[in-house]
Amino acid sequence: MIEQKPKQRVTLTLNGRKVTGDAEPRLLLTDFIRHTLGATGTHVGCEHGVCGCCTVLIDGVASRSCLAFAVQMDGATIETVESLADDEGRMNALQEAFRRHHALQCGFCTAGILMSFTDFLRRKPDPTREEVVDILGGHLCRCTGYTNIVDAVMDVVEGHAPQRDIGAA
Ligand code: FES
Ligand code: FES
Repeated sequence: MIEQKPKQRVTLTLNGRKVTGDAEPRLLLTDFIRHTLGATGTHVGCEHGVCGCCTVLIDGVASRSCLAFAVQMDGATIETVESLADDEGRMNALQEAFRRHHALQCGFCTAGILMSFTDFLRRKPDPTREEVVDILGGHLCRCTGYTNIVDAVMDVVEGHAPQRDIGAA
């Protein structure tokens, strides 16, 4: 019989709130966020760092949550897609641009893409289209053909989207 390792207490800040849960040493951050903390907006695809749909911000940096263990995150600040809309559920500029450009179909990849561009646009608010395409290269989408996603991001970059902020850290 496989011996269960004792769980460790993990306390982190999730979308501005301090939260605590217990995690076995092998539990992935993705599963901790979804199943222990109940924030199911973060999706799980390949579980080995390829598809990008599990992307969240760890201490402000876009990261694959399937490549991190929950126990490594004690004291960290995590932002997920749930942080983007305001308290009344109004979407931010990036989400609104995705909606307008039909930049999602099934939506499975969308949370991760939104979080990658949240990080990227905070650091570089005026990228070229080529730079946006380059960032999108870290994500797999089965549905959209990618063009609409690039159009949506460029809409925000070029100021066509209503300029509610894209999610300050
Ligand atoms: S589920 Fe993490 S990169 Fe695919
Ligand atoms: S919208 Fe379906 S996988 Fe991207």
